[in-house]
Amino acid sequence: MLAGTAAALAVPPAAQDQPIGSERAVPRHLLRGEELTLPLPALLRHGRLLFTANWTDQDGAGRPLTTGTGAPLADPMRPLTGARGMNRVSGPDANSCAGCHNMPDGIPGGAGDFASVVFQMAQRFDFATFDRSDTTRRRGSLDEMGRPATLQTIGNARMTPDLFGAGYLEMLARQITADLQRIRDAIEPGQARPLASTGISFGTLSRLPDGRWNMRRVEGLPPQSLASRGAEDRPSLAVRPWQASGSTASLRELHNTALNQHFGIQSSERFGVDADPDGDGVRNEVTRGDVTALTAFVATLQVPGRVIPADAEGRRAVAEGERTFARIGCATCHIPSLPLTRSGWTYSEPGPYNSSGNLRQTAAARRLAIDLADPALPRPRLSPDAGRGVIDVPAFTDFKLHDITDPADGDAAEPLDINQPPSSPKFLQGNRRFLTRRLWSAGSAPAHFHHGLFTSLREAVLAHAGEALESHRAFERLQASEQGAVIAFLESLQVLPPER
Ligand code: HEC
Ligand code: HEC
Repeated sequence: MLAGTAAALAVPPAAQDQPIGSERAVPRHLLRGEELTLPLPALLRHGRLLFTANWTDQDGAGRPLTTGTGAPLADPMRPLTGARGMNRVSGPDANSCAGCHNMPDGIPGGAGDFASVVFQMAQRFDFATFDRSDTTRRRGSLDEMGRPATLQTIGNARMTPDLFGAGYLEMLARQITADLQRIRDAIEPGQARPLASTGISFGTLSRLPDGRWNMRRVEGLPPQSLASRGAEDRPSLAVRPWQASGSTASLRELHNTALNQHFGIQSSERFGVDADPDGDGVRNEVTRGDVTALTAFVATLQVPGRVIPADAEGRRAVAEGERTFARIGCATCHIPSLPLTRSGWTYSEPGPYNSSGNLRQTAAARRLAIDLADPALPRPRLSPDAGRGVIDVPAFTDFKLHDITDPADGDAAEPLDINQPPSSPKFLQGNRRFLTRRLWSAGSAPAHFHHGLFTSLREAVLAHAGEALESHRAFERLQASEQGAVIAFLESLQVLPPER
C-alpha cells in the first residue's frame, strides 16, 4: 500500500520465535521506544497489522474480570468466560477494528454497515441479558438507578464512522483548542472575551470579579471542556473531535478505550505495565509503542476526494448544488474548508490534550512527529498551498456540538449523555447534541447520522430541525431541480478507491 514499505519490520529472532501452532494475531509487540526508531513505513505497517488483527485468547482477547470501561465486574463470581466471553451489546463485541471500519472497498479505517452499530456505554454492564429477574445493578439488566434497561436504553446506538483524514482533523482540533486557550489566558477577572478561532465562534468566556470562570455563554463545547473548580482552575476549552457526541480529544485516547471495550485487549499505558487486571493471564496485551503505531496508522489514512460526473449536466448540477448549499445556510455549520496553519500538519504523538490513563506529553517524553503532507503516505493527501503556507482541509464541519433535533420529538434524544460522569443523574438523562458531521465522505457513507438510521442523504437533510431549522426550511422551499443539485453535490463527496 505504501511506497517504500520494503523497510521490513526488524524482528529480533527471540521475539519472532513463536512455537509452531501459535495463534497470536500479533506475534510481536513494539518495546522500549522502538516506535521512535523504526522507519515510518515499518511503523505504519505495524499499525495496520494491529488495526486488522483478529485478536485471539492467546493475544489476550477477552476480559474475564473487568467491564469495557475497565471497572471490575459488578458480579466477579460470574466472570466473562465461555458463553459469557462475548456479547454483541455490552461487549467484547468484535474481533478486529477492521471488522467494523471497512467501507467502502474493504479499506481498513473505513466506515461500517449498520450491522456494526456499537451500543455506546452498554459496556459498563458485565453482560447484557435484559433478564428482569436479575436484581444486581450493572450486571445484566438493572442500570445504576435500579431501572431495568432495554435494548433502546442500555447504550447509545452509534453507527461506525470512517476515519479518513483523521490526522488532519485532529490537528485542526488541536489548533483551535490552542487558540481558545490563548484567548482564555488573556482574560482578567471581571472581563469577558469572545472565543473564536479560524472564523468559528464558540461564544463568550468571562470571569467574575473574584476571578472565577463563567462558561454560561460558551457554545458548542462539551461539559468536560468547561469544568472548573475555581479561579485557579481554568476550563480546558478542549475541542473534542472524536465520537458523534464530541466526547474524546485524541485518537490515542479513543484507541485505548476501543481496544478494551471491543476486544478486551488492555493497553499497558492505561491498565498498567506487567499487570493483568482483566484476569485472563496475559500481560502487556498491547504496549505503548503498539498504541503509537495504531494511532499513527489511523492518523495517516488517506483523505476523501470528489467524484465529478462525466457528463456536463451532472457537472453543472454538482457546482450549482455546492453554491446552493452555501446560500441556504448549510455551510454555517458544515464549513466547507478550514485552514491548518503554523505547520499544523506535523502530526505529533502523544498529543497535548490527552487525559490521564493515556500517554501524555511531558517535557521529558520524546515525541513522534509525522509530516501529514508526506507524499509517500496513502493518497490522496492534502498539501500546503505554496503561496499562503496553509493546508485547507475540506471536511465540512465546525467541530461544534449542535442540537438539531426537533424538541417535539421525544425519540430524537439518545438515552445516555456520555459527556457527563458515568452513572450520574445527568448521564442517565440523555443527549441531543452532536458534532456537525463532517461531510467530505458523505457520498460514500453506508448510512447517515450518528445512529445510521437514514439510508439516503435526502432523508438526512430533511431530518435537520432545532438549530438547523432555518436551513431545512430553505431547502424545502427550493425547486425540485435545485434540491436534486444539492443532493448531487453531497453525493460527489466520496472516498476514492485505493491508489487512484
Ligand atoms: C464493533 C464495531 C467497532 C469496532 C470493532 C471498532 N470501532 Fe471504532 N467506532 C465504532 C463506532 C460505532 C464509532 C462511533 C463512536 C461514537 O460516535 O461514539 C467508532 C469510532 C471510532 C473513532 C472515532 C471516529 C469519529 O469520527 O468520531 C476512531 C478513531 C475509531 N473508532 C477507531 C477504532 C479502532 C482503532 C478500533 C480498533 C482498536 C476500532 N475503532 C474498533 C465502531 C467500531
Ligand atoms: C446548525 C448546524 C447545522 C446546519 C445549519 C446544517 N447541518 Fe447538517 N448536520 C449537523 C449536525 C449536528 C449533523 C449530525 C447529526 C447527527 O449525527 O445526529 C449533521 C448531519 C448532516 C448530514 C449527514 C451526514 C452523514 O453522512 O451522516 C448531512 C447530509 C447534512 N448534515 C447536510 C446538511 C445540509 C444539506 C444542510 C443545509 C440544508 C445542513 N446539513 C445544515 C449540523 C448542521
